[in-house]
Amino acid sequence: MSFDLVLFGGTGDLTWRKLMPALFQAFRHGKLPEGGRILSVARDERSDDAYRAFIRERFEDVDESKRPSGEEFARFAELLHYRRMDLSQPADYGGLKQWLDARGADTQVLFLATSPHLFPVICAQLGAAGLNGPRVRVVLEKPLGHDLASAQEINRVVAAAFAEEQAYRIDHYLGKPAVQNLSALRFGNALFEPLWRRESIANIQITLAEGIGVGTRGDFYDRTGALRDMVQNHALQLLTMIAMEPPPTGDADALRDEKLKVLKSLKPFTPESVARDVVRGQYKAGIIDGKAVPGYRDEAKVQLESRCETFVALRTEVQNWRWAGVPFYLRTGKRLAGREAHIVVNFRGVPHPIFPGANRANKLVIKLQPEDGLELHLMAAKGSGPGELLAPVSLDLDFDKAFSSERVGGYERLLLDAIAGRLNLFVRSDEQEQAWRWVEPVLDAWAKDPSGPRPYAAGSWGPAASSALIARDGCAWVEEQ
Ligand code: BG6
Repeated sequence: MSFDLVLFGGTGDLTWRKLMPALFQAFRHGKLPEGGRILSVARDERSDDAYRAFIRERFEDVDESKRPSGEEFARFAELLHYRRMDLSQPADYGGLKQWLDARGADTQVLFLATSPHLFPVICAQLGAAGLNGPRVRVVLEKPLGHDLASAQEINRVVAAAFAEEQAYRIDHYLGKPAVQNLSALRFGNALFEPLWRRESIANIQITLAEGIGVGTRGDFYDRTGALRDMVQNHALQLLTMIAMEPPPTGDADALRDEKLKVLKSLKPFTPESVARDVVRGQYKAGIIDGKAVPGYRDEAKVQLESRCETFVALRTEVQNWRWAGVPFYLRTGKRLAGREAHIVVNFRGVPHPIFPGANRANKLVIKLQPEDGLELHLMAAKGSGPGELLAPVSLDLDFDKAFSSERVGGYERLLLDAIAGRLNLFVRSDEQEQAWRWVEPVLDAWAKDPSGPRPYAAGSWGPAASSALIARDGCAWVEEQ
C-alpha cells in the first residue's frame, strides 16, 4: 500500500519534536509501509536537501537510543520532501494536489500540525481544491477548541470538507502502550470483568503528574490551563477506557459509541459541586530534583497576575448501573513531585476480616509513566510463624521486559494507524464535544469565583485541598515516588 503523508507545519515544534522521531522509529522498526513519501509543508522557501539537513540537526535533541546513525538517516531522508506553501493561497493547494496526483498513492494522510486557528482555513482550502476525496484522511492535533462552541465550530468546518470517517482527532494518550493494555486487560481477559463494577470496586483514581513547568509555552498555557490542557482530553479519555461497557465488536465506532456513553453518564457539575468537588491550584517557586524552580507567574510569557490553573483535582461519578456511587478521582498538574501517570483501581476490603492487623484492600495499578506496567496488590502470609500478620505484596508486570523488541510509542502507533486507516484510537467529534460539555460548567464557575487557584509549592503534590477532597471519602491519593 503506497501512502503520502503531508505534514502541515513541517518546520514546527510538533513536527520535529514528536512526529519525525516517531516516523523514524516506525521506519527503523520496518513498520512504515513500503512506498511511502513524507512531504512537509511550511511558509519558507527551502530545498528538499535543506529540509533534510534541518531535520537531521533536530535529531540531536532526541534521546540517544532514538537517534539515527548517519547511514540510517540517509535512508530515512529519501522519504522526506519539502514544499513551500502559503496556507491562505488557493493556488498553493492546487500545486499540492498536482504533486500528490502525479503519483496517486493509495492513501493520502494530511496531518495538520499547525496552530489550530489555521484549521478552518486549511480545511476549507483542502475541500475547495478537491483534496478531500475518498483516499484522503485528515489528522487533527489538539487543542481542538477552547470550549464547546469553538470545538463545534472546528468540527463544522472539518465536516464541511470531510466525512467523519476521514477525520482522525489525536489524543496522544490513546496511543500510549499502557492504554492499549487497559483495553487488552478488560476485553482480552475474562478475569476482571466480573469484578469491574460497583460491587467490587471502591473508587478509581487517575493521576497525570508532571515534574516539568510550562517551559517555553507560557503564552499558550496561560490561555489554556490544566483543565483544558489535560482533563478535557487525556484524563477523560482514560476514564472512558476504564468505565466503558465491553463494545459489541472491535470496530472503531462500536468502541467510540461506548466511550461516548460514559461521557454522557458523567455527573454534571453545578456551581455548588464545582466548589465542593473541584480543586484548582497554581505552582509557586519550589525545589525539584534539588534545583530551585520559579513560580508559574514568573515563567516567561505568563501574565503577572495570572489566574491560570496549573493543577486540577476533582471527584466525579459515572451515573449508570455499573458504577453508581463509585467515586472517580482525577488529578493532574505541572511542577509536581515527579513525572508519574497511573490509574489506580481500589477494590473493596474483605467483608469480614478474620486475620489480625490491618486488612488492606486489593488494588490494581495501571502505570502509564515513567514506565508502563501493571501491579496487582494482594495481601499474603509471609510464612513467619504463628500469629503472623498479613503483609502486602504485589504482582508486577513490566511490559517493556515482556515484549521488549515489539513495542511502539504513542505517536508512532497513531501515525501508523492513520496511514492504515484504523480509527479506533482517534476521538470522534461527538466524544470531543461531550467532553467539552462536561467541563464547561467548571470553567464558568471558576470565571465567576474571585478566589482563583490555590497556591502549591513546586515539587509538592499540589494544594492541601486536593488531599482533603479525597480524604473526605476516607481515601488518599496513591503516590509511587
Ligand atoms: C500535552 C499537553 O497534550 O500533553 C502538555 O499539552 C503535556 O502540557 C503533555 O505536557 C503530556 O504528555 P506526556 O505524553 O508527556 O505525558
